[in-house]
Amino acid sequence: MTTELFLRYVHFVSIFAIVGSLVSEYSLLQKQLPRKTIAKIARIDSVYGLAAVTLLAAGLTLWLGEFGKPAVFYSKNWIFHTKLTLFALIGLLSIYPTIFFLKNRKGNPEELVPIPKSVWLLVRLELLLLFIIPLLAGLMSRGVGYMGNPM
Ligand code: HEM
Repeated sequence: MTTELFLRYVHFVSIFAIVGSLVSEYSLLQKQLPRKTIAKIARIDSVYGLAAVTLLAAGLTLWLGEFGKPAVFYSKNWIFHTKLTLFALIGLLSIYPTIFFLKNRKGNPEELVPIPKSVWLLVRLELLLLFIIPLLAGLMSRGVGYMGNPM
């Protein structure tokens, strides 16, 4: 029970960190930005990356560690797999913005760098997908989408 509570806590705190960092990144974006702001966004982006790792670690342990429900409760649930797919998709979508921020953070801190439209679009898309996941989580945690034998 205590381990499950701890894992749920880590899962939730990581979600807060992911949402917070992504919203901050988005709110800092402008048509062009000085390199010092890009460096700030790159630092926020590393918090996002770290939180994605702790979220995944806690999620995988909740799933496969069987601290709460049996692993099959999740493994045989198509909504759970949709949730995982969206999470992986968000990770893929974040690759280009991350590379852009890392590449452009160094140099004259006052120099203005144009921000490609694709970076805006990708961060916006990540946020959109992120807000769908809790709905899927709530459904699957109640057994909606479970395709195995009755438990
Ligand atoms: C951005 C990504 C994610 C979000 C926003 C998210 C959100 C949530 C939420 C809100 C819950 C609580 C559901 C409830 O009790 O009603 C939850 C539970 C859970 N999540 Fe995630 N999650 C994410 C990623 C993951 C990943 C990557 C995994 C697995 C590898 C995972 C595995 C689990 C498990 C096993 C539970 C326990 C469900 C239960 O109560 O039976 N999650 N998640």
